[in-house]
Amino acid sequence: MFRFCTTQSLVFVFACIALSEPKIPPNFKRCYRKDPDFRKCMFAAVQLAAPQLTKPYRAIAVPNLEPVEVSSLQVKGGGGVVAVNQNLKNCKLYGLTKSEIYQADFNLENKTWGFDFLIPELDCRCDYQLDGKVLLLPIKGEGNCTIVFDKMHVKLKIDFEEVVKDSRTHFKVSHSQIENDVGLVTMHFDNLFNGDKALGDNINKVLNENWKEVYAEVQADYQDLLTGVMMQLLNRFFDKVSLEELFDEN
Ligand SMILES: *[C@@H]1O[C@H](CO)[C@@H](O)[C@H](O)[C@H]1NC(C)=O
Ligand SMILES: *[C@@H]1O[C@H](CO)[C@@H](O)[C@H](O)[C@H]1NC(C)=O
Repeated sequence: MFRFCTTQSLVFVFACIALSEPKIPPNFKRCYRKDPDFRKCMFAAVQLAAPQLTKPYRAIAVPNLEPVEVSSLQVKGGGGVVAVNQNLKNCKLYGLTKSEIYQADFNLENKTWGFDFLIPELDCRCDYQLDGKVLLLPIKGEGNCTIVFDKMHVKLKIDFEEVVKDSRTHFKVSHSQIENDVGLVTMHFDNLFNGDKALGDNINKVLNENWKEVYAEVQADYQDLLTGVMMQLLNRFFDKVSLEELFDEN
């Protein structure tokens, strides 16, 4: 239908898209719930889809994930080694589409989706504002920062609830649970202490030498960020595409 439409005049193309929306793009694998291997098929579909999310698919409300854009991330310093309020803005996260997916168990009956994946390198670029203390050393500044997570392993379990809209069934995230660990974190904050290079280099060095302690304090915030990103993606997608369109209809 879509292909037929695109060969017609422009006016026709728009009319057809409007009529036939939403459409699962042909480069995604379709799975049908009547298939006895439905869950295996969904795993394969996710593995095939992930590396293709480097451009947006507006008909199914899936944005380009390279990068994922996050407008703001507030990390409140704890009472531990990292007593810093971090204000990160305009973050761009690169590397999610290169995930190695070990499991993507979509359970339609119990309305759950369990993910287990490794992001080989998650590269975050943000504007930052920092004020506080790290390992008792004062840290202050604003500018650009790069935070690279190597080998981030994520296990995520999503529970859905059903919502009926225009007599079609949609999924909506009702609950989520995340576990993660990371092999290495490398940080660089530009322009610390108003650009004092010696002080800035020193603090960046201390941060990187103690990345495990630093990460332990901010891990919960990064987990919330990842969960938030995934929930938003899934909610937008399932709000646009009903279960009938996804799993029953051609
Ligand atoms: C759904 O959950 C119930 C209760 O936990 C379980 O007995 C059943 O096997 C699950 N169904 C599937 C398809 O996993
Ligand atoms: C931060 O990065 C952006 C884009 O890479 C650049 O335009 C800007 O000048 C940088 N700001 C600072 C303070 O270095």
